[in-house]
Amino acid sequence: MKFGTPLSTNAIKVMLLGSGELGKEVVISLQRLGVEVIAVDRYANAPAHQVAHRALVINMSDAEALRALIIAEKPHFIVPEIEAIATQVLVEIEQEGIAEVIPTARAVNLTMNREGIRRLAAEELGLATSPYAFAESLEQLQAAAQRIGFPCFIKPVMSSSGKGQSKLDGAEELAAAWDYAIASGRVNHGKVILEGMIDFDFEITLLTVRAVGASGQVETFFCDAIGHKQVAGDYVESWQPQAMSALALQRAKDIAEKVTSNLGGRGIFGVELFVKGDEVWFSEVSPRPHDTGLVTLASQYQSEFEIHARAILGLPVDTSTHSIAASAVIYGGLEAQGIAFEGVADALKVPNSDVRLFGKPESFIKRRMGVALCRAQDVDSARANARTAAAQVRPVIG
Ligand SMILES: Nc1ncnc2c1ncn2[C@@H]1O[C@H](COP(=O)(O)OP(=O)(O)O)[C@@H](O)[C@H]1O
Ligand SMILES: [Mg+2]
Repeated sequence: MKFGTPLSTNAIKVMLLGSGELGKEVVISLQRLGVEVIAVDRYANAPAHQVAHRALVINMSDAEALRALIIAEKPHFIVPEIEAIATQVLVEIEQEGIAEVIPTARAVNLTMNREGIRRLAAEELGLATSPYAFAESLEQLQAAAQRIGFPCFIKPVMSSSGKGQSKLDGAEELAAAWDYAIASGRVNHGKVILEGMIDFDFEITLLTVRAVGASGQVETFFCDAIGHKQVAGDYVESWQPQAMSALALQRAKDIAEKVTSNLGGRGIFGVELFVKGDEVWFSEVSPRPHDTGLVTLASQYQSEFEIHARAILGLPVDTSTHSIAASAVIYGGLEAQGIAFEGVADALKVPNSDVRLFGKPESFIKRRMGVALCRAQDVDSARANARTAAAQVRPVIG
C-alpha cells in the first residue's frame, strides 16, 4: 500500500466512529503516518475530534445518516471506537466493498451485544465462561437466577463500562436489578444477561493483535497481560505485566487466539479473562483498543493505539514492553462544562510519571477525564505512584 498525502487525492483515509480518549490516541498514531482522519461522534469537540483532519457530529445509531456520511467521505477504513453504532450499515458497506471495516463488520456486530459474543465463545468455540442465561422479563430472570444461583451479575445485553450492571447476593434484589438494567441499557433492548460470579484471583486484559506478520499473512501477536481493578464495572487502575502462572498464560493466549481468529480481520482486541490459579475463563472481548490498555502508553515501545493503527494499515507491529508501568484514572468529580485541572505539575513531580488530559468538554462525577501513568521497578510501586499522581490532579470549576 502506498502512503499518500493527507487532504489530497492520494490520501489514505480513515473514519473513526466514536471519538473518545482511546480514539484520540489512535488518531495521533494515524496522523504520524500521514493518514487523513475523519473523526465522528454524537457531540462536538470530543477528544479525537480535536486532533483529526475533520470532526463530524452525527447520531451513529441512525443508519441513514451514517450511511450517507460514509458515502460522502469515502474512507478506505472504518474504525469503530464505540459500540453504539448502526452496525447493519457497516455490514452493508463491507459487503458492497465501499470500505474496509476494522476488524470486520461481523466482529463489530457480534461484540456489541453480550448475547452474540457469549454464545459464540461458549456454545460455538467451547470456551470456559461463567454460567449464564438471558432473560426478557422479570419472571424469566427469576427462573434463571434460581438455576444459576448467587452471587450473580445482571447486565443489559447492550451496555459497556458497567452501565446498568448490578451484582446480586440474593433473590430479593432481582426486581431492582431488572429495572436498573432495563433503564440504562444502551438501546432499550429489554434483554439482560445473568452471569454466575467467577471467584477469580485476578482479572486481565490480554491485548491480542491480528496484523500482517513476517509471513505476509495475518498472524496473531500478544502483549504482556494487563492486570486491572474495576469499581462498579468501570476500570480505575491497570498495570502491566500481571504476574501469572505459565499454564494460565498459555490458556489465556489459547482462548484469545480462538476468539480473535474467529472474529477475523486486522487490529487490536482487548480480551478480558478471569484467572484463578491455572484456571482461565473468557469474559468478553472488544475488537478495538481497551481502556485498561492506556497503561501501554507508558509500558510498551508501541502503545495499543499505535499497534492498532499499524495493524489497520497492514504494517508490522511490535508488542514488546520496555518498562513495568501502571495507570490510574482521573475522574471528573464534578458536573460542569469546561472544567479546569489543578495540580498537574505536582502529578508530574512523581518519578517517571506522565499525565493525559482528554479534553472532554463536559465533566461528570464519574466521567473519565484523564489518566496518570507511571513506570517503576515493580508493579506495586508503579501502581502506588500512578495513584499518587492521579490524586494530585484536581478538577475545579473555571
Ligand atoms: N461473571 C462475573 N464474575 C465475576 N466478576 C464479574 C463477572 N461479570 C462481571 N464481573 C466484574 O465486572 C466487571 C465489568 O463486567 P464486564 O462484563 O466486563 O462489563 P463491561 O462490558 O461493562 O466492561 C468485570 O471486569 C469484573 O470485574
Ligand atoms: Mg469489561
